[in-house]
Amino acid sequence: MSGQLSSPALARLLGQWQSGAAPAYRELADVVRLLILDGRLPLDTALPGERPLAETLGISRTTITAAYAQLREQGFLSTGQGAKGRTRLPSIQAAAAPGINAPDGVLDLAYAALPASGEVVHRAYASAATELPALLPGFGYEVQGLPGLREAIADRYTAAGVPTSAAEILVTSGAQHALNIVLRALVTRSGGRQDKVLVDHPSYPNALDAIRVAGAKAVPVALPAVPAIGSGAWDLDAWETALEQHRPTIAYLIPDFHNPTGRLMPDRQRRRLARAAARAGTVLIADETLRELNLDGIPSTPMAAFGPGVVSIGSLSKSHWGGLRTGWIRANPDLISRFCSARSSMDLGGAVMEQLAATHLVRNLDQPLLDRLESLRANRSALLELLGSELPDWKIEYPDGGLSVWCRLPGPISTALTVIAPEFGIRLAAGPRFGVGGSYDGYLRLPFTLPPAGLRTAVLALRAAQEKLASAPQLRRDTAATPVNAIA
Ligand SMILES: Cc1ncc(COP(=O)(O)O)c(C=O)c1O
Repeated sequence: MSGQLSSPALARLLGQWQSGAAPAYRELADVVRLLILDGRLPLDTALPGERPLAETLGISRTTITAAYAQLREQGFLSTGQGAKGRTRLPSIQAAAAPGINAPDGVLDLAYAALPASGEVVHRAYASAATELPALLPGFGYEVQGLPGLREAIADRYTAAGVPTSAAEILVTSGAQHALNIVLRALVTRSGGRQDKVLVDHPSYPNALDAIRVAGAKAVPVALPAVPAIGSGAWDLDAWETALEQHRPTIAYLIPDFHNPTGRLMPDRQRRRLARAAARAGTVLIADETLRELNLDGIPSTPMAAFGPGVVSIGSLSKSHWGGLRTGWIRANPDLISRFCSARSSMDLGGAVMEQLAATHLVRNLDQPLLDRLESLRANRSALLELLGSELPDWKIEYPDGGLSVWCRLPGPISTALTVIAPEFGIRLAAGPRFGVGGSYDGYLRLPFTLPPAGLRTAVLALRAAQEKLASAPQLRRDTAATPVNAIA
């Protein structure tokens, strides 16, 4: 939204801006900066010209000129020639933004994550700052989460076809935290018996780690290598057999734009799976962290619609920003109360500011998401095209959505590629991180979170790294261990 502010309107917003404690130009610039930061002065608004503002405020024009110059220098006003300065936020230097361009100049392909859409997230925090004072008289502890945020999340499920109340939502510090709470509540560590958790294979590395750390055993059920058209993306016969045979405590899946493959589970498979889990007495956990990244607009119903015992995990990390650290669990009220008890030994609730900001984001999810989806679609096309032309011996699975492409390499070289990748200016997550027991050295997850130019640099670097491995096969033998670096 862009607009123009008149001198009287700005004067009203400024109020009693001059205290005399500092030069007038600096006080004026400071107050305008605060108005921009707390959202009262919207971004992309043209400020009044120097002369009319000087007249309205009854001060010299040079004071206004100096104040505007300071705002420009600090990055709060645009610098377009001739045009009136427009309000903006200082841009973050790429070198200081982790995950885009790591500080050492390495392109980070180990994170399948996006930077925040600055304006949208900033506006949500600005609104939160104005709502915070009303909550300050309380203690600030809400183990289940702020009621307003729980209602907003519940309403989204209801709108997606799963009637949900705020009592069925627990707000967490992200999806990873949510999974840890569920595991802590449901995995038993008694009598030397190890609980089993059935998992998609491949699966999200941090989830596999959480299952192991919780003392449970991840039992893999393989995703079909390349799904035949019309056969469905999961092997439901294998899932039914595994559920019946192992009768696991938990099954953990990512049915919505699966990480790393980007597959979407069709509704008919969701129904079958939920029934099979209920028969086996297994709690089905559906990780919906990537659900909003529906790049091709394929209709699907949240897993919770197919069984009252389903536990859904969600997050704002991929739709908005990982830095929000806000996610949730949706489950029946009995389970929610068990999860709240399990949570209390880890933390006593989420930060109030983040939850207030998250409430705005959840309530206004759709519009900002459209822009994000559009650029992701362009990135996905660019990456698929680049891989086809530069690395034709890699087999690519077309992702229905999400943030990554799962690539089948011409041999078991994923670990070796990951080890030598920094020499070529890239950082990778080795395929075996996505598997149980060292499988998937013949695969690599590539995120399409960089813009096309960055993806081109990355793919050319991958080609150069692969050529180096081909010319020095001993490198493959020297790099047997999977590097354990941070992944998202
Ligand atoms: C499938 C899946 N689950 C959980 C997470 C962690 O999400 P959060 O940042 O909300 O903890 C991710 C992040 O990449 C993910 O892809």
